[in-house]
Amino acid sequence: MRAAIIGTGGIARIHATLIGQLGGQIVGVSSRTIEAATAFGVGKPYDDVPLMLREQRPDVVHVCSPNHLHAEHSIAAFESGAHVLCEKPMATSAEECFRMIDAAKRADRIGAIAYTYRGYPLVEVLRAKVADGAFGKLRRLGGCYLSEDVLAADKYVWLFTPGSTGRSYVLMDLGVHWLDMAEYVSGQRIVDIAAQFSTHQAERIWRGGAGEGPRPPGAVSGGDSVTVVSNLEEQADLLVRFSGGAAGSMTVSGVSPGHPNTIILSADGPESGFDWNQQEPNIYVERSAAGNTILQRSPDKLSADRAWMSRLPAGHAEGYLDAFRNVVSQAWSAMRGEPAAFPSFADGLRGIQLIEAAVRSAETRQTVRL
Ligand SMILES: NC(=O)c1ccc[n+]([C@@H]2O[C@H](COP(=O)([O-])OP(=O)(O)OC[C@H]3O[C@@H](n4cnc5c(N)ncnc54)[C@H](O)[C@@H]3O)[C@@H](O)[C@H]2O)c1
Repeated sequence: MRAAIIGTGGIARIHATLIGQLGGQIVGVSSRTIEAATAFGVGKPYDDVPLMLREQRPDVVHVCSPNHLHAEHSIAAFESGAHVLCEKPMATSAEECFRMIDAAKRADRIGAIAYTYRGYPLVEVLRAKVADGAFGKLRRLGGCYLSEDVLAADKYVWLFTPGSTGRSYVLMDLGVHWLDMAEYVSGQRIVDIAAQFSTHQAERIWRGGAGEGPRPPGAVSGGDSVTVVSNLEEQADLLVRFSGGAAGSMTVSGVSPGHPNTIILSADGPESGFDWNQQEPNIYVERSAAGNTILQRSPDKLSADRAWMSRLPAGHAEGYLDAFRNVVSQAWSAMRGEPAAFPSFADGLRGIQLIEAAVRSAETRQTVRL
C-alpha cells in the first residue's frame, strides 16, 4: 500500500512503524508546519494536505491530526480516491461523522477507525466466549479507563483548546475506546447512559510545548504562556444499561495517579465472570464461586479464522504494537478487497453518539436513552 500520514505527533510515529511492519510505503507526510513534516524523517514532507494528495495519490491516508480536523482530512482523502484509516475519536460531532460516511460512500472507499484495543487476541477470545454463552447471560458489564495524562496541575494538551475536541475531553480521548470494547465484546448495545462529569483542575497553562498545539485564545500569563480555563471533564462516571439486560458502571479519568493506561473490562454472568486489564494484555481472569483461574494468551486458544492475531507462542509477551498492527492489517485487507473484520466508520459514529448522549446526560442530570 502507498500510504500517506496526516499529522506527525505521537500517534503518527506509531502508524509509521506499523506501515513499515506491514510492508507499506510512506509516500507523503503532512503536518502543521513543513519543519515538523521534514523532521518526521520519512515520506515527502508537506504542510498542505490537498497538495500532498494531488501529488502523491496514496492508496490509503492515515489521519493522525487533532480531532477537529479528522472530518476535513478524511473527506479530502476520499475525494482524492484514497481509503482512510482515521484515528479515534472519529470526529468532534455525529454531524461530522455523517459527512465523513457520505464522502466514503460517494468515493466508494473504505473508512476504518483506529480502535487499537480491539486488536488484542484476548479481547477477541472474550468476545467469542461471550457469544458462545460461556458466561451465560451477562448481568454486569463495567470497568474503567484510568490514566494520568493530564495529572500535572497545569498540564496542557491541545484538547483543552476550545473547538478541538467537541464538548468532552476524557470520554473523547480515552472513554471512546472503552465504550467500543464494551459493545464489541458483549455483542450488546448501550441503551441507557447516566453520566456525571467532574473537572478537577480547570486552569491549564499553554506554553507551546509538544502536544499543546497552536497558541489558544486566553489570558497571557507571563512570558509566552497562556492561561486557559477549561470546563471539559477530566473524569467521567457513567452508569450504563445494555440491550441484553446487562448493567454496570465505568469511570474514565485522565487524572488518576499511578495509572498510565489502565483499561479494565469486567463482566459477570450468573455463575462466572471475567476481568481483563490492558496493562497485562496476555492474561485474563475467569471467576466463579468455586475459584478463579488465570488464563494466558495462546495462539491455540484462538479460533482458526482468528489464529493470525497472535504471532508469538504462549508465554512470550505480545503487546500494544501487535494489537494495533492487527487492527491496521485488517483494515488494509478490506481496502485491498479481501474479506476482513475491522472497526468501521459506523463504529466510529457509534462512539461519538454514545459520548454525545453522555454529555447530554451530564448537562441535564437525566438518564439518556439511545
Ligand atoms: N488509537 C489510539 O489509542 C490513540 C492514541 C493517541 C492519540 N490518538 C489520536 O490521534 C490523534 C492525534 O493525537 P496525537 O497524540 O498524535 O497528538 P499530537 O499533538 O502529538 O499530534 C498531532 C499532530 O497533528 C498535526 N497537525 C495539526 N494541525 C494540522 C494540520 N492542519 N494539518 C496536518 N497536521 C496537523 C500537528 O502538527 C501534530 O503533528 C488524535 O485524534 C488522538 O485522539 C489515538
